[in-house]
Amino acid sequence: MPAVVIIGGQWGDEGKGRTVDFHSQYCSVIARYSAGNNAGHTIMNDQGKFALHVIPAGIFRPDKICVIGHGVVIDPGVVLDEIDGLEERGVSTKNLRISRNANVIMPWHPLIDSADENLRGKLAIGTTGTGTGPAFHDKVARTGIRVADLLDRERFSERLKPVLDYKNRILTGLYGLEPLVYADVFETYITYGERLRSYADDTAAIVQQAHDEGKMILLEGAQGSLLDLDTGTYPYVTSSVPASIAAGGPAGVGLGPTAVQKVIGVYKAYQTRVGNGPMPTEIFGQEAEDIRQGGGGVAGTGEFGTTTGRARRIGWFDGVLAKHTADINGITSVALTRLDTLSHADEVKICTGYEIAGISTETMPATLWGMEQAKPVYETLDGWGEDVSDVRRFSDLPKNARSFVKRIESLIGVTIDMISVGPERDQAIVTRDIFGTVIEAHQ
Ligand code: IMP
Ligand code: MG
Repeated sequence: MPAVVIIGGQWGDEGKGRTVDFHSQYCSVIARYSAGNNAGHTIMNDQGKFALHVIPAGIFRPDKICVIGHGVVIDPGVVLDEIDGLEERGVSTKNLRISRNANVIMPWHPLIDSADENLRGKLAIGTTGTGTGPAFHDKVARTGIRVADLLDRERFSERLKPVLDYKNRILTGLYGLEPLVYADVFETYITYGERLRSYADDTAAIVQQAHDEGKMILLEGAQGSLLDLDTGTYPYVTSSVPASIAAGGPAGVGLGPTAVQKVIGVYKAYQTRVGNGPMPTEIFGQEAEDIRQGGGGVAGTGEFGTTTGRARRIGWFDGVLAKHTADINGITSVALTRLDTLSHADEVKICTGYEIAGISTETMPATLWGMEQAKPVYETLDGWGEDVSDVRRFSDLPKNARSFVKRIESLIGVTIDMISVGPERDQAIVTRDIFGTVIEAHQ
């Protein structure tokens, strides 16, 4: 099976990191294909608890090649800190390869990111402030700086001068900020280049060769599909090009779309969102707070951003949006995460449709206006009221938990093959493996 995409089916933070960490055991290459260090994965395994922002979650398996593809935008300071942090804790990064063609997040990008948010006022997107959006903006405007540019003093100088001159006019003229000093930026980034040199590579060739040799490649999505520029809740989305949906996977590493044979969609048992924008099933007060603090799951694993530490907005599982993201990604297998977090609830809700201006619908509205007006129609199910974190077989789950999972499965229309019941690597119920072999039938 050549390439598998793992993609988030909601607004990010679905647990893609732990899903990749689990499935990477079967793959030779694990590659990130889009986004920047706006992404955050929390991973808990026998080596400890880690927060990753740019490096693929496959890094914990020393025999695997980890690739940061050309579709990713890279903040060299962040990636180098991440490398140092991993090495200090005994996780080797020698098999990490970074695309020479990936665009670089430059110091003006985070400045512009927050300045633009201020200008947007009450229409602010609620970005992560990492400069990711402005870096993609420059990539598309063809004024971006790539990793390869940092590896050659002359080329970097030639590239940086006109771009910095242009950016300084914007920083000072539009935002009233101080200009950046050419010599400082040049020296800092050429020094980053020196440190990145041993990681920089032709990653498209590496991935292509692995593909030719019939090796399994895991394409690790960052962000959720509802944050995609075209198919998400625009303009409350991220700026990644290629798209943060599964179709962006092969494009972001240099493979053709026919290489992808399987798309694993990761969904949380409820919804979360950081940043602004419509969220029809959002809940507030104690009901939301219980889930945010970790609910019936492990204390200290609540819903706070890995990258920004922001409290995540909480909502009930949205079957309308789940069906939409299953369709646009061509999802063939679902991983449902954090079932344990709902164990405290007396009752759990699932949104099966919307009412918009008095009209019922079961499909995602095509406009922002529609999304903002959408009132969820719920099915309420009895909770299961017992800890499920030690369950490893579907048939051992409480009956009400099984009904909840099966109802979600029927709304998405794709089988749920993995259910996570805790943050640790082994806290999962796997009913069908990555090759499609049934381990346990749902009943
Ligand atoms: P940006 O990607 O920083 O420009 O932020 C755009 C929107 O995407 C904001 O609502 C962010 O909170 C959201 N976002 C970006 N990356 C992630 C992520 O990894 N998880 C969840 N939300 C994200
Ligand atoms: Mg995250």
